[in-house]
Amino acid sequence: MISSDTRKHVRGNSIFIDDMPIPTGTLFASVFDSSIAHGKIVKLDLSKAQQLDGVVKIITFKDIPGENQIGNIIADESLLAEDKVEYVGEPVAIIVAENESISKKAKKLITIEYEELPVVTDARQAFKLGSLIVPPRIFEMGNINSAFEEADFIFEDKVEIGGQEHLYLETQGAVVIPGECDNIKIFSSTQGPTVVQKAAARVLNLKMHQIEVDVLRLGGAFGGKEDQATPWAVMAALAAKLTARPVKLILNRHDDLRMTGKRHPYSVDYKIGLTKDYKIIAFDVTYFQNAGACADLSTAILERTLFHASNSYFIPNIKAVGNSCKTNLPPNTAFRGFGGPQAMFVIESAIHKAASVIGVDAHVIQKINLLHEGDFFYYGQKAERVNAEKCWIASEKIFDLQQKEKEISEFNASHELVKKGIALMPICFGISFTNSMLNQASALLHIYNDGSISISTAAVEMGQGVNEKMINIAARIFSINKSKIKIESTNTTRVANTSATAASSAADLNGNALIIACNNLLIRLKNHAANILKVNDSEKIIFKNEAIYYGDEKQKLSWEEIITSAYVNRISLSSQAFYATPNIHFDRNIKKGNPFAYHVYGTAIIVSKVDCLRGTYEMESVEVVHDFGKSLNPLIDLGQAEGAIIQGIGWMTIEELKQDDNGKLLSNSLSTYKIPDIYSIPKNMKVHFLEDSENPYGPFKSKAIGEPPLMYGIGAYFAIANAIKEFNPHVALNYSAPITHEKTLMLLYQNKQINLDEVK
Ligand code: MOS
Repeated sequence: MISSDTRKHVRGNSIFIDDMPIPTGTLFASVFDSSIAHGKIVKLDLSKAQQLDGVVKIITFKDIPGENQIGNIIADESLLAEDKVEYVGEPVAIIVAENESISKKAKKLITIEYEELPVVTDARQAFKLGSLIVPPRIFEMGNINSAFEEADFIFEDKVEIGGQEHLYLETQGAVVIPGECDNIKIFSSTQGPTVVQKAAARVLNLKMHQIEVDVLRLGGAFGGKEDQATPWAVMAALAAKLTARPVKLILNRHDDLRMTGKRHPYSVDYKIGLTKDYKIIAFDVTYFQNAGACADLSTAILERTLFHASNSYFIPNIKAVGNSCKTNLPPNTAFRGFGGPQAMFVIESAIHKAASVIGVDAHVIQKINLLHEGDFFYYGQKAERVNAEKCWIASEKIFDLQQKEKEISEFNASHELVKKGIALMPICFGISFTNSMLNQASALLHIYNDGSISISTAAVEMGQGVNEKMINIAARIFSINKSKIKIESTNTTRVANTSATAASSAADLNGNALIIACNNLLIRLKNHAANILKVNDSEKIIFKNEAIYYGDEKQKLSWEEIITSAYVNRISLSSQAFYATPNIHFDRNIKKGNPFAYHVYGTAIIVSKVDCLRGTYEMESVEVVHDFGKSLNPLIDLGQAEGAIIQGIGWMTIEELKQDDNGKLLSNSLSTYKIPDIYSIPKNMKVHFLEDSENPYGPFKSKAIGEPPLMYGIGAYFAIANAIKEFNPHVALNYSAPITHEKTLMLLYQNKQINLDEVK
């Protein structure tokens, strides 16, 4: 059954910020931003723009009534630049005008003079200059020095990982409506309503209760609206406050691409030590994260990188150092996986390199080192209900790995200019916000006296189907038709202190809160039904298919009737509930604890086919065994898995961000930044649901789904690399992602002489 949101989307009935009916008198704001990556502002001349007919106000930092500060974790990000700019696209002024075209015209009339300063775009260069967001962080377990002494094989290398543009279909934007006194209502396309509320309060010098943030749905986010929806919402709020009129601010695609941060690029050094029977006994890794010009969420993202240094493997001796390097790029930010994918690409690169030099298949080393029940993650958490090996073995069996390998080697033996490569990609992803505080949620449930239900939670619908999951939960508990249930917008006046919809955790946290709210009401209704039926044992009352049963006996009492009767008898038909994930904690001083409620596991087998004349490739198959727990909604979960896999493959293969040395984004349009399209979908994509997986922490034993499957895409890199090696056995891979078609072509012919007359 397709979800209610899907139905609205395909019929064009879904409303996004830009579609909202707006009040008469709404003004339009656009943002004047820095054209250079680093410099002092010597002169800002607004006079010509101000004189343009229809311009209502041009706002600079001087007009801010509160603090010029929107930094969430670290207070290092001004809403509007003051005397210096640190990246191309940094907001400097807000032009508020009667309509959009006037505000855009006025933007062109602003002149600015800079005194340019040196630009740093490279993380390692920033590190050398001592330009760090926070001091380096070190996680460790065991003793790598003595372990390296015992190792039979030691390999060292460097890994480069590119960023990724979110490319949510709906660009950033907000509509703000001023109310009486200083109250304002913000409609924002944000994953974090409370993040916006708090930042707006700070900038406008208001109390949080004066600001209502409402989020109906997002047209995609992928992490890009966890922190970076904030500036635009706060700018629109500032403009609304200063003009006392409604204000709409929507970034166009070019502005969005230029001004917003991406997935963090990383440059990494590692050293790995293995025994002669391929056990990994030591791993030493240093990450250089390219944070961009401000902290944003970089420190939290780097922390997750550290948590996932060993992916699905047990490595007894690890030392991981994380450096968050400040550069002159837009602040990089959350993106599906939140630093985990970068960590996993590094350990997989290390294993691949070791395997290549030793002369075994990487999957031999991978399999030997998989986590087992009771192993300890190097941050101190004991691994429980481990499904790493279960998924791996299931994938080997279900997708007949042996036969597949045989077919590939036969294919490669009989084809000279087309080669296939295979790679296995296991994943292990921790579920919970690594900042334990954020693992809380609440739900507000109303049953109206006609029997229809209204649900509010902190979960933001962004295309991931969380609303449908909430409907599933309530429909299941009350056993009523889904059409009776409505999920309301996420609104800070109905659900306060929301954690952002992020970390794959929204369905878990909000779903668990909703279960409590529903059960509270169900107990109330059962007691009332027992009264009506004049029985004592209310626990024998069952709600089934919109009817009331006493034991097995269907009663003459429908869902509507019990609700109406409860109302008439003055029984509350509302319930509010709170959920906080139990048993999680992490001590940031000793860097040990139990940060995750649980882990999600899985294994992908990926086969690539490379055209060795052109350097082009396709993914022939992606076959996965994934641990969904007991899926709440298999169709939604399958969609999330498939979408994430494609997004992960895109990141590893064709999506290449480019800046020039002056920090200007070159891949600034869809013609220069290529994302997967319908033609990129693997011909054969299968996602198998691991059997017998249950999760005590998820609603109805389900597991989180949003982020983990993205990391299967990492296997695409190695599948392509392995095909290249079939053609050019002596190729020196540089473990630099993405492995674009161009890079593939270069690697195919690296140090290779080829006589085209001779090839078949
Ligand atoms: Mo998500 S990358 O945790 O917003």
